[in-house]
Amino acid sequence: MTRSYRFPANFVWGAATSAYQIEGSPLADGAGPSIWQRFAHTPGMMANDDNGDIACDHYRRYKDDVQLMRALGLNGYRFSLSWSRVLPEGTGRINQKGLDFYSRLVDELLENGIEPNATLFHWDMPAALDDRGGWLSRDCAHWFAEYASVVFKALDGRVKLWSTINEPWVVTDGGYLNGALAPGHRSKYEAPIAAHNLMRASGAAIQAYRSVGRHEIGVVFNIEPKYPASQRPEDVAATRRAHAYMNEQFADPALLGSYPPELKEIFGDAWPDFPVDDFQLTKQPVDFVGINYYTRSVVKHDDNGYPCKASRVHQKHVTHTETDWEVYEQGLIDTLMWFKTRYGNLPLYITENGAAFYDPPVAEGDVVKDPKRVAYLRDHLRALHQCVEAGVNLKGYYAWSLLDNLEWSLGFAKRFGLYHVDYATLKRTPKASAKFYAKVIESNGEALAE
Ligand code: BGC
Repeated sequence: MTRSYRFPANFVWGAATSAYQIEGSPLADGAGPSIWQRFAHTPGMMANDDNGDIACDHYRRYKDDVQLMRALGLNGYRFSLSWSRVLPEGTGRINQKGLDFYSRLVDELLENGIEPNATLFHWDMPAALDDRGGWLSRDCAHWFAEYASVVFKALDGRVKLWSTINEPWVVTDGGYLNGALAPGHRSKYEAPIAAHNLMRASGAAIQAYRSVGRHEIGVVFNIEPKYPASQRPEDVAATRRAHAYMNEQFADPALLGSYPPELKEIFGDAWPDFPVDDFQLTKQPVDFVGINYYTRSVVKHDDNGYPCKASRVHQKHVTHTETDWEVYEQGLIDTLMWFKTRYGNLPLYITENGAAFYDPPVAEGDVVKDPKRVAYLRDHLRALHQCVEAGVNLKGYYAWSLLDNLEWSLGFAKRFGLYHVDYATLKRTPKASAKFYAKVIESNGEALAE
């Protein structure tokens, strides 16, 4: 008998994007600049001098993009709101036109039978707040709750799934420790403070939601499982540190109200004694957790490996993506099983999963042939089905990404889309992975058996 890959009834089949990566027109209709607007226009920060001025022009083409979602058969779409479109200075004055854009987008989705999953923060902090200290200021929890409340009041009821912060680890590691992402700081002293404040802000937004909102709210973590390169004690210890740094540093304060002890070991005198009361704020009951999964890492001890004295061992004879990430679907299973054991059987969504691969030039009238992305999707969705069978409380899956977009400081060259975007004409063309995903959705998973 062939295996059945049928997913649970009401499973959310979605795709994900984020504001700065797709919208373009970042300063239109009264929006204020974000830190990404600033960063992308700072010479030397972006590959190929790319920026989000036009991106996919989704701000003006959102109706067409909703039709692309419909062609896939999606019943869910995860997007983020640009904070500085809604509050140009980050707090205070509301820019109604900015809010109206998201209101129109949500209406368009609902009219097409697609449930919105709105992320409040996907990295593009208002520049005006960065000038006031950004995530290093303890005030950011109030700022974020204020912004969140404005958005909840405008959209809750129509939006039934909310996420507070997307990938706090990337925000702090890229933005405050190694400087590759906005706001481009490099400080071992700042990183833990920004990380802690992000989790306080997430908690404050969840708290605000409980007085205004009537539906579900959660937070999104990128989890990358770590495996020791050998059983030597120093490799095992390095693996433990890397895992605490990347995965537990964020999920623990949110879900357990504490930090793992390895963080003190990693940061030494840069690790602050956080006020105990803060953990009441970070640990708010969530309705679900979003997990973004892309790859794993095999870890060895390395005295120069910053900041965990650990480094990644590149695996041979396996597929790597264009971002040099190992394709490893077993890691998705290990991640969800670990999560269930450590934090309980919470409702989970895979809020991002996908891969950048080289896509051949587009032939007129044809789909873009992307066999590696098809295989990536198929193998990760099969792995997810295994998790469902093992009792993981999985509610939905959002492929990253609906369409090729600005891969942050790596620019437009890294393509993750189900739809190809020609950046000269902005024409969208389906890839074979879009056709494949549509079949999976239509059969509620059964097509994974083929
Ligand atoms: C982010 C996305 C990004 C994707 C691929 C995630 O870290 O949430 O914005 O494009 O991974 O790198």
